[in-house]
Amino acid sequence: MRVLVSGGAGYIGSHTVVQLVAAGHEVVVVDSFANAKPSVVGRLEALTGRPLDVRSFDLTDVDKTEHLFAHEPFDAVIHFAGFKAVGESVEKPLEYYENNLGSTFSLVRAMRRHGVAKLVFSSSATVYGAQAPVPMREDLPTSATNPYGWTKVMQEQVLRDVAASDPTWRIALLRYFNPVGAHASGTIGEDPSDIPNNLMPYLAQVAVGRLEKLLVYGDDYDTVDGTGVRDYIHVEDLAAGHIAALHQLGDTRAPVSTWNLGTGTGTSVLQLLAAFERACGHTLPYEVVARRAGDIAASYADPTRAEAELGWRATRTVDDMCADSWRWQSQNPRGYPEG
Ligand code: UFG
Repeated sequence: MRVLVSGGAGYIGSHTVVQLVAAGHEVVVVDSFANAKPSVVGRLEALTGRPLDVRSFDLTDVDKTEHLFAHEPFDAVIHFAGFKAVGESVEKPLEYYENNLGSTFSLVRAMRRHGVAKLVFSSSATVYGAQAPVPMREDLPTSATNPYGWTKVMQEQVLRDVAASDPTWRIALLRYFNPVGAHASGTIGEDPSDIPNNLMPYLAQVAVGRLEKLLVYGDDYDTVDGTGVRDYIHVEDLAAGHIAALHQLGDTRAPVSTWNLGTGTGTSVLQLLAAFERACGHTLPYEVVARRAGDIAASYADPTRAEAELGWRATRTVDDMCADSWRWQSQNPRGYPEG
């Protein structure tokens, strides 16, 4: 298939591009490079052994998006592009709604006009909101606790309504749990532009000496050791889930399918810390501080639907995730080079 990958220079997008090329697909990346460094492109070309077709523009630009679809054929789109920082979304709600909803409107309109009906969308377990029972199943009601989360809830709703209006659509809503890890080569990985908000990149930067110590946000939750429990999933397993979903979007499938992409296993902050210490070979300083506003005690997937319908299952362990995150961070202590 000829596949357009929006946000293909980003963390999950870049790993998916490598697997798409390996699976024999022709890939075109569109990325604004608002949150990605151009040097990722050379890394991807080295990994795939071929030039990467990259278009550098923002999908909220309706004219450029329309122009692309008017002049080139695509069989499917994988839509990763979007702002994703929870805290920033509270500070800049309008920017989040405009960017995340606007890019999806522009993209889906151009797809509809030019007869491209297969879409794989990056959603998030954040759509289960604050009160969901674990393990989380796809049929739970959706809600959110911050503007970023609402953009995911709203985009899912828009896409369900679009599919209901025209049954030729084939849309996959993929709800990611906590993506971590990196490509086994250590040449591509997660590269936060600022101080990381998320646990794994924070740990990796403590381990490499960029940050002084981990702050553990609360140890009085009702969990195995009092710290927050999450379903960490290796980015390579997550990328494989996208390929499996893409291959499932055929005639026999319903216009919209919703799949959790998680392992089904919860890991606490202190358990992940211990695993990272094993990976990097030394202890890491930490301090327990107050809970972070908006955090929940435990989040992990019921992954049975994806397993049954996609024939896909996450296979990499938490130790694999830490080893690969550490390889990426230690080989690239400052992330991707500028330029
Ligand atoms: N944590 C710390 N210290 C840190 C960072 C995180 O103790 O410096 C703890 C959190 O309190 C939580 C766990 O580590 O218990 C994981 O936190 P992350 O920030 O890594 O991940 P979240 O589960 O909070 O958020 C992630 C994504 C969001 C998404 C959400 C729900 O980052 O985009 O999952 O799916 F909305």
